[in-house]
Amino acid sequence: MEEQDLLRFDKTVQQWLVDIRQTLEKNLLANLLISEKKGRRDLVTNVDKNVEKILTEKIHILDPKAQILGEEGFGDAVRTMRDHVWFIDPIDGTMNFIKQRDDFAIMLALYIEGQGTLAWIMDVDKGIIYHGGPKIGIFANQQKLKTPQNIRLEDGLIEVSGGRLLNQQLKLVEIGRKSLGIRIIGSAGMSFIKVIEGKAVGYVSKMQPWDFAAAKVLLESLKMPFTTIDGTEIDMLSSNTVLTATPCAHQEIVHLELT
Ligand code: IPD
Ligand code: CA
Ligand code: CA
Ligand code: CA
Repeated sequence: MEEQDLLRFDKTVQQWLVDIRQTLEKNLLANLLISEKKGRRDLVTNVDKNVEKILTEKIHILDPKAQILGEEGFGDAVRTMRDHVWFIDPIDGTMNFIKQRDDFAIMLALYIEGQGTLAWIMDVDKGIIYHGGPKIGIFANQQKLKTPQNIRLEDGLIEVSGGRLLNQQLKLVEIGRKSLGIRIIGSAGMSFIKVIEGKAVGYVSKMQPWDFAAAKVLLESLKMPFTTIDGTEIDMLSSNTVLTATPCAHQEIVHLELT
């Protein structure tokens, strides 16, 4: 895609997000309908579904030939990363959205021929959109972002997923012990934002493509490693144990010996 088209797509999607945020504030929150997916900790609301529906319809108009992979199933059964593939997580951190009304995000990403091209993560409560791509740079609203400082694991806070920690998975205890402290937000998007802003040294969690697709574009554009916890390449069409961190901490975590 030419730079002018990238900029047009970037601007258009930012406007969608601004509009959705406004609608959320005005209408949708009044009649929240909550249902269980796989259990009492895996919830979905009418807002998750509505936001995905709205975004899917808009993408079809903006980019008619694209395939769309959305968490709530309004998109396509995507089997290949050829051509244009969009990822949508309509509300990331649904539990936070329901219980706290903050620390949740809306995330979108566009991959072309498997290459992360554009992405958006909106911190809905604050109204900040982290967006951009490898060719146009990464921004928090209008402000251009730089690569975070390459600090060591022992000098930073590590973001993890609460569920994985409870299940004592992913060598999280060892990683936590080496770091300055563990942080759990309850939204992958919000944890990724901490890494993008250099407030956390890294984030590790097992997650689905819509949870990590946008962050992969943004963080790799900022020269941050984004791999599986073993340091291998991520499969964009299945669940992965994702590790992103400063280059220094990434190496330490990949090679961490369990004690
Ligand atoms: C979840 C959140 C949570 C993470 C889970 C995700 P959802 O996304 O990001 O922090 O630990 O793995 O599924 O379901 O709220 O979009
Ligand atoms: Ca969910
Ligand atoms: Ca979601
Ligand atoms: Ca999610």
